Amino acid sequence: MSLGVIVLAAGKGTRMKSELPKVLHRAAGRSLLGWVLAAVDPLEADEIVAVIGHGADAVVDALPSGVASVVQEPQLGTGDAVRVGLSGCGDTVDTVLVVPGDMPLLEACTLATVVETHRDQHAAATVLAVEMDDPTGYGRIERRGDQVVGIVEDRDTDDRQRRINEVNTSVYAFDAELLGDALGRLGRDNSQGEYYLTDVIGILNADGHRVVGVVTDVVEGAGVNSHAQLARVGEALRSGINDRLMAEGVAMLDPSRVYIDAGVAVDPGATIYPDVYLEGDTTVGAGAVVGPSVHAGNTSIAPGATVRFSVLDGAVIGPEATVGPFSYLRPGTDLKEGAKAGAFVEIKNSQVGVRSKVPHLSYIGDTTIGEASNIGAATVTVNYDGFEKHRTTIGDRVRIGSDTMLVAPVTIGDDAYTGAGSVITHDVTPGALAIERSHQKEIPGYADKRKRRASRDGE
Ligand code: UD1
Ligand code: CA
Repeated sequence: MSLGVIVLAAGKGTRMKSELPKVLHRAAGRSLLGWVLAAVDPLEADEIVAVIGHGADAVVDALPSGVASVVQEPQLGTGDAVRVGLSGCGDTVDTVLVVPGDMPLLEACTLATVVETHRDQHAAATVLAVEMDDPTGYGRIERRGDQVVGIVEDRDTDDRQRRINEVNTSVYAFDAELLGDALGRLGRDNSQGEYYLTDVIGILNADGHRVVGVVTDVVEGAGVNSHAQLARVGEALRSGINDRLMAEGVAMLDPSRVYIDAGVAVDPGATIYPDVYLEGDTTVGAGAVVGPSVHAGNTSIAPGATVRFSVLDGAVIGPEATVGPFSYLRPGTDLKEGAKAGAFVEIKNSQVGVRSKVPHLSYIGDTTIGEASNIGAATVTVNYDGFEKHRTTIGDRVRIGSDTMLVAPVTIGDDAYTGAGSVITHDVTPGALAIERSHQKEIPGYADKRKRRASRDGE
């Protein structure tokens, strides 16, 4: 037995009012198509074919390996789409699962149930249905006992059919051969002039074949046609992720205000405060405390680290390190164990060694800082001369005075000091104090002289 999956992804998604093909819109860190393919993946289908059309190039780029594609051009309806999809499946496929590319809440176990029921019951077709309080807009399922006798599109319903609550999700399993035959007999004599896949159900029934229905939870059947629906499925996907993490032992003060993408790993024992966004390849270790108000992408936060009110992008935060409030850590930032990036600190492409601290108001770029060093408030590594970037190297146990400009390339030796306000343009020898300031002058009685001059000029 060989299973082929056809994913319908050619539609434009007019109501999204967007250049981006509908199935590439994202929710909780994945495209809609990505979510559907993730639900299809555990079925271990022999073939997966995406039917693409609008924005085909972009959609092809988004397909993982192992998913083939065929272009449907022009788009003449769902029946036409499946005909095109079937042409992309090999001859050995005997069961075809059809899945729309815009139903991100579909679960793998539901798809597996559809395929299993279909095979167990030796059906020609199996339709996944949901029961809706307001079925307006959907195809209604007509039954006679167990047998599904047809699907009537909303605009073609009569008064009786309009009151049917059981609707078509557009997920089906088909016998491949019977499907191919029925598709060849579809007409387009309907209100939209399209080939309706739903008419295949009526044809198979009329031919005396078995057509069954599987009913699932209404939430799973939610498709996305608009940004409002995209937001709602995003919310459902996020709460699914948060519920799973909390069940695994992650603490969340208010999960409705935690935005964790699929693909982010949070270990049991971590605590997530509100207004936290964890995106891309981010990981959070046990005992780490993240938030409130943290936006972290592709960042690894080690066990025991604390990150508050900060933006992190491509950073590595070591064990027991502390970040924020109000740090901006850019790609290549690597805070070692117990290191600190404090208030109003920006760091990029730099290593901050074990227990070293950058506590206040600094810019550190293209820099290596050794262990147990302290960078005084308002220090700047002057890494860019307008043409090239240069590195600053700071040793172990260094004390950089407040408001030091470190003009790179420059090296500060171990145990060295710099005086506050210095512009350091030469390397500093280990253990030395480098100070670069003009001598302080004083003009005695200056204030009185000014006052006398002002009153004279005023007369
Ligand atoms: C379809 C069903 C309807 C069901 C509803 C569930 C038909 C005729 N109707 O209606 O019974 O209740 O889904 O959401 O099938 N697509 C293509 N190529 C095309 C046309 C569509 O790839 O030529 C794709 C779309 O991108 C989409 C899916 O097929 O992913 C469904 O198409 P859509 O036009 O949204 O169908 P509905 O009118 O919603
Ligand atoms: Ca639809």
